[in-house]
Amino acid sequence: MERKYYQENVVYQIYPRSFYDSNGDGIGDIQGIISKLDYLKDLGVGIIWLSPIYKSPLDDMGYDVASYYEIHPDYGTMDDMEELIEEAKKRNIRILMDLVINHTSDEHEWFIQSKDPSSKYHDYYYWKKGRNKNKKPPNNWDSMFSGSAWEYDQDNNLWYLHLYSKKQVDLNYHNENVIMEVEKILKFWLDKGIYGFRCDVINQIYKTSLKNGRKKLFMTGQEHYLNQDGNHLILKRFNRDVFQKYDAMTVGETFGVSPQEAIKFMDDELTMCFSFEHLNLDKRSIPVFKKKYHPSSLKNVLIKWQKEVNWNTCFFENHDQHRSIERYGDSKHYYLESAKMLATIILTLRGTPFIYQGEEIGMLDNHYDNLNDIQDVSAHRVYQTIRRLLPLLKEKKVLELVDVNNRDHSRTPMCWDASSHGGFSTVKAWIKESPDYQKINVQSNLDNPNSILNYYKNLIQIRKNHLSISYGTIEFLSSNKNVLCFYRKLENHPAIFVIINLSKKRIKNPYYEQGEVLATNYDVSSIDKLDYLAPYMALVIKTNHQ
Ligand code: GLC
Ligand code: CA
Repeated sequence: MERKYYQENVVYQIYPRSFYDSNGDGIGDIQGIISKLDYLKDLGVGIIWLSPIYKSPLDDMGYDVASYYEIHPDYGTMDDMEELIEEAKKRNIRILMDLVINHTSDEHEWFIQSKDPSSKYHDYYYWKKGRNKNKKPPNNWDSMFSGSAWEYDQDNNLWYLHLYSKKQVDLNYHNENVIMEVEKILKFWLDKGIYGFRCDVINQIYKTSLKNGRKKLFMTGQEHYLNQDGNHLILKRFNRDVFQKYDAMTVGETFGVSPQEAIKFMDDELTMCFSFEHLNLDKRSIPVFKKKYHPSSLKNVLIKWQKEVNWNTCFFENHDQHRSIERYGDSKHYYLESAKMLATIILTLRGTPFIYQGEEIGMLDNHYDNLNDIQDVSAHRVYQTIRRLLPLLKEKKVLELVDVNNRDHSRTPMCWDASSHGGFSTVKAWIKESPDYQKINVQSNLDNPNSILNYYKNLIQIRKNHLSISYGTIEFLSSNKNVLCFYRKLENHPAIFVIINLSKKRIKNPYYEQGEVLATNYDVSSIDKLDYLAPYMALVIKTNHQ
């Protein structure tokens, strides 16, 4: 059996702006991360994914890069970054950088130069004449953040393409120089000693044509840029020229892929992909509308991906998503139980687990009833669109719709203790702070043996100590529609049995397995007499057989 670091280790995503502020300006920074490395080590983390810390005007909080070779002064300097890589290495923690290469900031030097049609940078982006004598955008594509995907530029009387905000300009991957520039960036960071990259919206980088898209309510144009053949060819090149040589780990943010498409992205391209199918179960196809979540749908989606894709990413949260306990559990009646149930899912399925900062202490969504408190650029775009389409709708209602997609919920500062500002900073944070910080914080979790944090810690160790969880096969047992139940089996190792009640119903226990209870979110004295699975109950059992 070939052992792989990413198969045995857990990834922890840090949103640097909100992790820990070391110098009292209300903004998280690299020295703040360094000072918390021992916390991460103690949790059992082996890999950190850092959301962007590059130079940026922060229109989309760093997902708009102005220089790939410079650190944003809010976060520190390149020396700080090198120190972080070094200090992490000492603790056997590796680092993934966020690679944002579908677009650059409009403040990137390339884009500024590109406005001049005679510049060699002009063709780094999509500069086009508009339709209708240049009055209408060149095509009908939508921006992901709503509205047109094109912006008119007065300086040169042309339009440029931006699939996200108008300050995030799409790069043109038909241009060989762009590909070479990206390879240079990859090598620069790998040479600094990082482990690899989380690749932002990586299945959209290649636009096969700029023709009009089939009219859709959301993402018109996608058939011209999602999962294109040209996209695969570019990733194969990055892999052959760079990733492979460094034995780098890469994880693609591949929005909207099917298992078959994900497999293609893992064929000499990326190490693994994020699927979002399980995160769309409570949303309608126009994502401002919610839909009722059914635990059985989560079960079906998880099983489908586990069966079809050999190596998955296992996660519920990131900086774009709402916190998970309220979505898949019950934060009022079964707060601890459902949080631990979710931890059990991501830490025992087959794949690399990803934990988003604060998830391990059970942080909840922040709520926003005032537009001025919202920082997220996409939420503001959605607000403007709803206002334009439905001018008479009450403000409260508009904010409710915006709220479904507002990404600030999980971007609130990490809560470290019960002191003011949750121990994140000595001053007010850059974004609305969590009102729950006195109860939900790292210190209170550390102090309580029964806490969510201690459950994560314990389960991460169990995962490390039982190789069948990282390398074993997964075999699902059919059972009640709300019960997820499987074996993890590896030759010469005891089989691990996992049973999870995804719902808040009490359910008759469908399987009696014997063995040692390694982890559970209830006080279970004997599994022999376990006739019922309590709400959100999860059990991890080391069996007496292989
Ligand atoms: C990804 C990021 C998101 C960002 C977008 C554009 O989806 O996770 O935060 O807004 O890409 O870069
Ligand atoms: Ca700071």
